[in-house]
Amino acid sequence: MSISASAVAAFTSAYGEEPAGLWAAPGRVNLIGEHTDYNDGFVLPFALPQRTVAAVGPSPDGTFAVCSTLAPEPVTFGITEPGEVTGWGAYVAGVVWALREAGFEPPAVRIAIDSEVPLGSGLSSSAALESSVLTALIDLGGLDVPLERRPAIAQRAENLYVGAPTGILDQSASIRCEAGKALFLDCRSYEIEQIPFDLAAAGLAILVINSNAPHQHVDGEYGARRKSCEESAAILGVTALRDVGVDDLPGALDRLGDEVLRKRTRHIVTENQRVLDTVALLRAGQVREIGPLLTASHASMRDDFEITVDQVDVAVSTALAAGAYGARMTGGGFGGCVLALIDAARADETAAAVAAAYAERGFTAPTSWVAVAGPGATKL
Ligand code: GLA
Repeated sequence: MSISASAVAAFTSAYGEEPAGLWAAPGRVNLIGEHTDYNDGFVLPFALPQRTVAAVGPSPDGTFAVCSTLAPEPVTFGITEPGEVTGWGAYVAGVVWALREAGFEPPAVRIAIDSEVPLGSGLSSSAALESSVLTALIDLGGLDVPLERRPAIAQRAENLYVGAPTGILDQSASIRCEAGKALFLDCRSYEIEQIPFDLAAAGLAILVINSNAPHQHVDGEYGARRKSCEESAAILGVTALRDVGVDDLPGALDRLGDEVLRKRTRHIVTENQRVLDTVALLRAGQVREIGPLLTASHASMRDDFEITVDQVDVAVSTALAAGAYGARMTGGGFGGCVLALIDAARADETAAAVAAAYAERGFTAPTSWVAVAGPGATKL
């Protein structure tokens, strides 16, 4: 059964009628630009074909209800403040709250969710949930919320209602990405450029390798990285590390006495430059040539930002040894997925090499697939 059909089935069984419509929003992989978003910097994600589907219909009694194929018993709530709905329902209650905070009146609805975005793998399953619900509420309510404002509303739901101090990467990707394109986003101005990303035409592919490593200490470590970046910016007297260019880096590092702050800053400053260099190469149609930038990004996350784990390091080194042009961890870190830029014909071979390397080390088996850039959030 497709996830659209299962979302409809969950809706009908929970609420005893057909939904008014279906809305879908994708997970994402970030091609390059990690932890740069909350430093006002640059990111370059593309949308996964895997999506979350929300079957939605009007509520007869003015309250909200949400269930899913994993949790068929509906969570119900009215107009709430942060903290009142907890658990997975908080993502949905948070979107309702954030829309109201932004001055819009969402209609009361009943929702059933199904998703094919792997949970807890750094592929933004939570942003896919927020974005599918947000898009449904905007469409059903006839709300005039321009596309460029939507990611910040979903982000506020996550930051202030759910309580995760994330940047704007995931929601922007889920809402603003287009099929066949990578989304070049300036996280300060929210300006975007859709960068053509047709790998198949170049005989290439992105292999996504889910390390299936258990996420550990993710929240605390993420917050600690963010704090270090803000501390560095304050010492350097800039609004955000975005304001430090690669040419200013040696001087900036001299002024930061602390070795941890120096490492964190070096990652952000060089990563922003790698995004700009990647975009320049893609604009020029030089896709294979971005490989070394991806690999350099990984080294920077491993050595300077210190957010990788053995499983992702092994996936990167094995993919490179198997002939990948470049490879890096994607997402927040401490587990999650690796992406490798490979010749399209070598996908099975590369996936098998990584699986063998994992088996040799006694790691949980990885899951790999070729990811093609899909569309952003939409009514089906
Ligand atoms: C998580 C966060 C994003 C971003 C990435 C790292 O996915 O939700 O905002 O910071 O980590 O690039």
